[in-house]
Amino acid sequence: MSTEATIEQRSGAAAFEVVPSGRPAGAEIRGVDISRGVADGVMARIRDALHRWKVVVLRNQRITPEQQIAFSRYFGRLERHVIPEYLVPGYHDLVRVSNVLDDHGKPIGLVDAGRVWHTDGHFLPQPNLYSMLYAIEIPHDTNGAPLGPTLFANSAHAYEQLPASTKARLQGLRGANSLANVYARMHAENAAKNRPPLTEAQKREAVHPVVRTHPFTGEKCLYVSRAATGRIVDMEPQEGDALIGELSDWIVRDENVYTHRWQVGDLLLWDNCSSQHLAVGDYALPQRRLLHRTTVAGLDTF
Ligand code: SIN
Repeated sequence: MSTEATIEQRSGAAAFEVVPSGRPAGAEIRGVDISRGVADGVMARIRDALHRWKVVVLRNQRITPEQQIAFSRYFGRLERHVIPEYLVPGYHDLVRVSNVLDDHGKPIGLVDAGRVWHTDGHFLPQPNLYSMLYAIEIPHDTNGAPLGPTLFANSAHAYEQLPASTKARLQGLRGANSLANVYARMHAENAAKNRPPLTEAQKREAVHPVVRTHPFTGEKCLYVSRAATGRIVDMEPQEGDALIGELSDWIVRDENVYTHRWQVGDLLLWDNCSSQHLAVGDYALPQRRLLHRTTVAGLDTF
């Protein structure tokens, strides 16, 4: 019996299964209970599904911070979040995404993370490979429907669907991305107002190809967003802005988007090279939202 089969039997879980969302991105992985340990072979299948579907969810998980960190480390070195104020106390690798307030009325986590379309770590020379969110509290409306969904767009599919002439036009182009751009956009949309100001180092631009090649799948992915990409290098500002707008809209058009509706116990994983995401802020206290996030650092070879 293979190690993988042994683990599946030991965990008492149903057989490993990948159920696509029916959208260009998104799939549910069934038959895995992270709290019982996951064999290398199963981890490799989760990673394959993540590369195929860009965002995958494992539902009904009951995991500790240590278990989330251990699971995340399988995918690579973890990266500390740029805003250390919101780390889960005692855990350098785990950040809280939450609208919950502490006893002094201060947010315990990032209140409005991801309120513009973006991909994590675009402002770094080696952008983050993957991000993972574990849902602990999820807000609901008065009918019990979940609020605060997260939208994901498949940026590899977006590239693939471009006309050949546009693909040719994008060859060799590079975009300059920065967190300062994202903050400016979020402030304009009345979000992220209470975050500590960015340091000079955090304001630095990172230049990346407009079409990135995925380090594992070799897929070509559009790597531009209106919020993060301030300019196209070596292009007149007006022409560059128009291109950024055109590509950003193309990536996040409705037919390219999967909407993740959260349940408590969801562990959601996404690939940052081949997807973009947007958190919807359609809830407010006393509707509470609390998730724990880990981030896998980029490869040095990017
Ligand atoms: C993020 O962009 O990391 C946060 C996503 C979310 O809160 O749904």
